[in-house]
Amino acid sequence: MIKRKQLHIGLFGFGCVGKGLYDVLNLSKHPCAEIVKICVKDKTKDRGVAKDLITFDKHEILNDDSVNLVVELIDDSEEAFDIVKKALLAGKSVVTANKKMIAEHFDDLLSLQASTGQALLYEAAACASIPIIRNLEEYYDTDILNRIEGIINGSTNYILTRSLNEGLSYKEALQIAQQLGYAESNPGLDVEGHDAANKLSILSAHAFGRFILPEDLPRTGIQNITSAELKFARQNNWKIKLLAKAYKTSEGLTAFVMPSYVDDDSALYKVDDVFNGVQTETVFADKQFFSGRGAGAFPTASAVLSDISALSYDYRYEYKKLNQGKDIPLIDDVIPVYLRSEDVDESVLSDSFEHIFEVFKSGNRLHICGQIKLKTIFTWLKTHPNMAVLHLPETYVEINSKGLPILELENLSEL
Ligand SMILES: NC(=O)c1ccc[n+]([C@@H]2O[C@H](COP(=O)([O-])OP(=O)(O)OC[C@H]3O[C@@H](n4cnc5c(N)ncnc54)[C@H](OP(=O)(O)O)[C@@H]3O)[C@@H](O)[C@H]2O)c1
Repeated sequence: MIKRKQLHIGLFGFGCVGKGLYDVLNLSKHPCAEIVKICVKDKTKDRGVAKDLITFDKHEILNDDSVNLVVELIDDSEEAFDIVKKALLAGKSVVTANKKMIAEHFDDLLSLQASTGQALLYEAAACASIPIIRNLEEYYDTDILNRIEGIINGSTNYILTRSLNEGLSYKEALQIAQQLGYAESNPGLDVEGHDAANKLSILSAHAFGRFILPEDLPRTGIQNITSAELKFARQNNWKIKLLAKAYKTSEGLTAFVMPSYVDDDSALYKVDDVFNGVQTETVFADKQFFSGRGAGAFPTASAVLSDISALSYDYRYEYKKLNQGKDIPLIDDVIPVYLRSEDVDESVLSDSFEHIFEVFKSGNRLHICGQIKLKTIFTWLKTHPNMAVLHLPETYVEINSKGLPILELENLSEL
């Protein structure tokens, strides 16, 4: 029988996830893990735990040789990097849920793991409760992954679900998501797609061995979605989801984050509220689908707990695919989109498309559905940040390429 390591944990952060982990560890009565110190920031908050467990000085944990595992669950990515770096250099393993910190410092974190020999695990950083990173690392080690796509941000999925089903305004839905602990402290990270881009960076490294800096990922969020886009979804029995996609073609890898119309042919259609869903496509296994809660105290803490358990068996990521994938070129693919604009002339905008399926006009508002290069979309968005761009479903393209009308808009002025 493999002997498990006893873990003495220094915990950073006692917010939604940190407190969740504290409770989950107590409830699960983990045989090998015990929190010995908790570092937080605010001296005025009542934590509901023994006073001698709490410290406000990070060095009390980082310099404590009895702490062999640091669990980093704070909401400040730069400070988090400093803590993680110092912990690894001090010979401690680390578990973190901080996707922003990982995506922004991926190469440094790889070097630190290599030079210190310490493990860094971060399952909760990608899709909270869904065990996707370890599956990409281990299960898909030999099968060839061609595509990974998913709903990987719980709070935008919650906002979009409530807006579509109940007609809640964006602000109302966001406020509820924040009250429930689903949203990041800075909601712009969620709604503008930064959070999904950070996660896609990490997933791409583990899926294809190709790490992409978040700033190099084409990304647009849900902030420009209005009642017009929601109505277009309802008319077609579609839903709107913020999707992160990365897929291989013969020439390389295409990856982006974009709100998307999803029809009921997709496994992601039923992934509502705060749930996340990830679909993988491999050469031998074909399509596989994972779903689970993408945010919240206990679901996120459960992934952190699983990493803690894995560390007690000395598990570490081996990043086996990085050698094969690190030079795969990023490809500017042509994709089908719905685009709404208020301030660009029809002929100018139409010229940007490779192929147009439909054009609707209503006053100064223009809606175009067609095939367009990713780079062109993001060039437009730089100069017209209020444009709404949504990816269209495959079935829409199939039906339209046969020349059949797929929808009859009742009254465009209502869009
Ligand atoms: N919430 C989720 O569902 C979820 C899901 C997946 C991943 N995550 C990630 O998990 C991490 C924590 O998120 P959260 O939702 O738990 O955040 P949170 O509720 O805002 O809690 C943040 C905690 O960090 C502490 N903190 C901030 N700066 C600190 C510092 N310099 N030193 C020590 N403690 C510090 C805060 O201390 P005070 O209590 O003193 O203010 C607070 O306890 C983030 O990286 C987030 O992206 C969250």
